[in-house]
Amino acid sequence: MFAPRPDRTGRGARRQAAPAARVEVFVDDVALRVPEGASAAAAVLLAGAALIRETPASGAPRLPYCLMGICFDCLAEIDGVANRQACLVQVVPGMRIATQRGARVAFAG
Ligand code: FES
Repeated sequence: MFAPRPDRTGRGARRQAAPAARVEVFVDDVALRVPEGASAAAAVLLAGAALIRETPASGAPRLPYCLMGICFDCLAEIDGVANRQACLVQVVPGMRIATQRGARVAFAG
């Protein structure tokens, strides 16, 4: 977790990590390349979106907050499925993340 501090000889200096591969996803139909393994919530934040959902009661805008599955402010429509916690979903190539407005609509089977 922590990188060692380099000593006076330069030993222990941090090595440059290879850049992560990137995958293309779409946030509200805008293409974006994000690091492989990132969450859909991270993609939303990297896209600079103003919101990812509106609250059902007041329509207040929300963006991912806790990034660990607690606050539910990241609920989004991902690949056509509403109410998914974007912070718990890993991006895959071609993923479509869309703003969720209002309450989820349930479909009777
Ligand atoms: S950002 Fe809090 S639950 Fe996803």
